[in-house]
Amino acid sequence: MTGTVNHGRTGQLDDVTFDQMRRLVGLVEHDDSKDPFPVKALDAVVFVVGNATQSALFYQVALGMELIAYSGPEHGNRDHKAFVLKSGSARFVLKGAVDPDSPLADHHRHHGDGVVDLALEVLDVDKCVEHARAQGATVLEEPHDVSDEHGTIRQAAIATYGETRHTLLDRSHYTGPYLPGYVARRGGYVKPADAPKRLFQAVDHCVGNVELGQMDRWVEFYNRVMGFVNMAEFVGDDIATDYSALMSKVVANGNHRVKFPLNEPAVGKRKSQIDEYLEFYRGAGCQHIALATGDIIKTVTAMRAAGVEFLNTPDAYYDDPELRARIGEVRVPIETLKEHGILVDRDEDGYLLQIFTKPIGDRPTVFYELIERHGSLGFGKGNFKALFEAIEREQERRGNL
Ligand SMILES: [Fe+2]
Repeated sequence: MTGTVNHGRTGQLDDVTFDQMRRLVGLVEHDDSKDPFPVKALDAVVFVVGNATQSALFYQVALGMELIAYSGPEHGNRDHKAFVLKSGSARFVLKGAVDPDSPLADHHRHHGDGVVDLALEVLDVDKCVEHARAQGATVLEEPHDVSDEHGTIRQAAIATYGETRHTLLDRSHYTGPYLPGYVARRGGYVKPADAPKRLFQAVDHCVGNVELGQMDRWVEFYNRVMGFVNMAEFVGDDIATDYSALMSKVVANGNHRVKFPLNEPAVGKRKSQIDEYLEFYRGAGCQHIALATGDIIKTVTAMRAAGVEFLNTPDAYYDDPELRARIGEVRVPIETLKEHGILVDRDEDGYLLQIFTKPIGDRPTVFYELIERHGSLGFGKGNFKALFEAIEREQERRGNL
């Protein structure tokens, strides 16, 4: 199958081909006709932040994203400002309260900067909602049309973990820059002349942290309500260190375009990173978003130069003689991976390179991952222990271990 990744007729995000996407995020064949809840794509990751005006600049300067649309008081939205940014097929929306009485202000007071909506582009909103409701989902917004001069979007929303939702959209009859109520907008920020065109091409996966004992409930929710399949299974012992332990399972839509790992804390000697997240986010929520890049070295170099901080990986990780045996040949020398702090993992399908940022907000909650896949459909299981030891060093510095 060839062609572009179809985000409807907006033309805004159609610049990553299907074959590129298959390599970047590891797509598999899937027959939509038998799917009770056919998902086309992750439509957008929607954040509530304390200062959307400034965050929009951070996402342009530090993550290399492009500002494409805006909603705010100048255009009749007196409640909040919202900035829409894209990078390849990835779309992020940043919302910040303007009206002190906005529900977004309350949300931010409670949770801090975080993800409120993992919006999904679907083939048939009504069919998805009908299936979800029959399977016991909480329908937050009934299917309805929203229209402007660019056409009509059919949308609805269902609840997932914590105060997170999945808005479901059919944008096949819409040509505007994002949604009705938004206007096209470009950023004033000018990239350096030698900057890469973009630093990532797609969202690979979005991880949810849920409370102790709730992981299987949410795996089952995605299986039953949204027809997602189980991709991989980790158990506590695989990814435990002395202090942090967690359990993680991964669900994905039929063609694996949308992948949601779900973590819950496991009992360790002291507070785990998942417990820290749940405490500071005040409940379940989105922990990290993995950004797919075709050149992780270039991406990390550009992001570091712009001030993004990444977790340090201990030298011992690279000097371990077992590492070379475990990973075999990869496209860059281990010395280069060490220089950038990039982790590498291999499974039966291939390998992947990955690295994690420090939390991007004030609270120790949401962070990003960069991932470069070479056949592997995994999530870096072999790196979990090395990663968590690095996270714990940071947690200890914050006094939360
Ligand atoms: Fe991840």
